[in-house]
Amino acid sequence: VSAPLEPVRREADHLRILDQRELPERLVHLRCRGVEEVAEAIRTLAVRGAPAIGIAAAYGVSLAADNAARAGEDVRSAARAASDLLETTRPTAVNLFYALKRMRRVLDDGGSDAEDLPRALRAEADAVLAEDLATGEAIARHGLSVFPESGEVSVLTHCNAGGLATGGWGTALAPIYAAHASGRRVAVFADETRPLLQGSRLTAWELHHAGIPVTVLVDGASASLLGRRRVDLVIVGADRIAANGDTANKIGTYAVALAAREAGIPFYVAAPISTFDLATARGADIPIEERGPEEVLAGRGAPGAAAYNPAFDVTPARLIAGWITERGVLRPPFPELAEQKAD
Ligand code: MRU
Repeated sequence: VSAPLEPVRREADHLRILDQRELPERLVHLRCRGVEEVAEAIRTLAVRGAPAIGIAAAYGVSLAADNAARAGEDVRSAARAASDLLETTRPTAVNLFYALKRMRRVLDDGGSDAEDLPRALRAEADAVLAEDLATGEAIARHGLSVFPESGEVSVLTHCNAGGLATGGWGTALAPIYAAHASGRRVAVFADETRPLLQGSRLTAWELHHAGIPVTVLVDGASASLLGRRRVDLVIVGADRIAANGDTANKIGTYAVALAAREAGIPFYVAAPISTFDLATARGADIPIEERGPEEVLAGRGAPGAAAYNPAFDVTPARLIAGWITERGVLRPPFPELAEQKAD
């Protein structure tokens, strides 16, 4: 089954990126011919969402290797420099570092000589993408197990953890697509997600195109929606999950989790295993990206005002009912991930 969306696609001599800054008004694709352009696309959120950032970065390294080979330059050092550059683009989503670590492993593997390297790197980037697509389908399957058994299901989500944020299926939205495909009536409430509006621009766009009813609300309205018990459950994505289950996701997620707890509505995180960072013990240790004041003050902010603009917050594990992954619905201390801890 091919995925509904292709936010990142490798073409012969470039990486095609669906420019998410332009949605929903325009469907524009960037053609990134070098790693600098890929890094810029990640930094400016043309491509965003933890898994999609990792996929784009993996292809960025592969592109740099191909370009170096074509120019007769040293492939290994070009690919290493590309990886160094990509590591600086965004700090919070661990999938970026996960994907780059995989590319590094190929680079450091003495088995591939210079001629084989571009092919090996391309194969690894393709694998990162293919595994993400398979993961999305598995998350969809496991996610359905936390839905009410029958009747219409109504889900609140925050930010965009859909096809656009991944290889094409999504994480938080994957079970919603699966429920809809199986003929179940499903309705989604999408928080607007200030300041960059990933909810109203991206989540609403992709769900509407899939024929799934979607209602946008301002971020300040989610506590009221939950308090009135208008949804059955909350599902959000994640950018990094610490070993104790504390979960970093788009700013505003924590407030939704608090309101869900108060209302007695289950709050789930859906994410691939690659979003777990077992080397980070707790949420307070997760690096949080701070973005510029213009994102907050643009529009009607009073001139001279300062802005507080963290891009992510950390929801404490105790507010989370379960972590929906490709290996099932997990809970701390995540015994299923024990072998990874040894890495
Ligand atoms: O700043 P963004 O748009 O990259 O933030 C994205 C999120 O917070 C998503 O919820 C998260 O990356 C999970 S995407 C499957």
